[in-house]
Amino acid sequence: MIRRMRQVIVAANWKMHTTPADAGELAHTIAARTRESGVIRVLCPPFVCLAAVRDALEAPDVAAPDGQGVAVGAQDVHHEPAGAYTGSISAPMLAGLATWVIVGHSERRRDAGETDELIGRKLLAARASGLRAILCVGEQLEEREGGRAAEVVERQVRECLAGADPGQFGTDGGLPWLTIAYEPVWAIGTGRTARGADAAAMADLIRATLGALGFPARGEEIPVLYGGSVTSGSIGEFLAEPAIDGALVGGASLKPDEMAAIVARAALTATARAGRAAG
Ligand code: PGA
Repeated sequence: MIRRMRQVIVAANWKMHTTPADAGELAHTIAARTRESGVIRVLCPPFVCLAAVRDALEAPDVAAPDGQGVAVGAQDVHHEPAGAYTGSISAPMLAGLATWVIVGHSERRRDAGETDELIGRKLLAARASGLRAILCVGEQLEEREGGRAAEVVERQVRECLAGADPGQFGTDGGLPWLTIAYEPVWAIGTGRTARGADAAAMADLIRATLGALGFPARGEEIPVLYGGSVTSGSIGEFLAEPAIDGALVGGASLKPDEMAAIVARAALTATARAGRAAG
């Protein structure tokens, strides 16, 4: 029996690191060291490094044996296509530079005051321009300690997707238009990770919420990633959970050794899933 299975994804969020002078070389090194079949690799450098990274990833020696190259993603996008928005970058401007985009990262919620409503508009702008979105959700430490983590994440998913047509956010050519990254804020950049079982419970809740919103197959087709201090040492705990489809990696994604080990671990899960789907 062939069952549909979700792709395994490792996305690198370089945040405000690298320059146009060095990003291409780093991207090439990481890409060449992560040539594993079955894993969708996405590198998200700063806007000004997108062109250098795109060019570097055109090299022939970065494709995996299954022919998959490495995709380029932006770290944010404006909700309007054009206008008087000094300093902002719109989705149409990313054409030819990126095919993926992160939206709603907690650092933008914190530093740029992004609300779920605004993030929802960014998702629609991304989709309208053919960008595959990674929507970030996750609770603060006091929300987790107060027993409100599930309520917060469910509300973020509902409100960010309130204006979205679920039929527009399925998969296309095996690739998802929407991926959700569960990133507990207290785990980002702190060296402290969620427990795999807690992240899996949150992934289940996220899919149940997608189902309630009318997503096809009750949200089962939407990949859910874990993010927050993922390293080569912790990736296995998350990928051991069938509900978790990969990782959004920050600090460790700038280190080729770490990325090589993380993607190698992801490939084990991809191979196991492919075997189960075919078996
Ligand atoms: P981190 O960042 O891996 O450095 O914790 C993850 C993220 O913010 O996406």
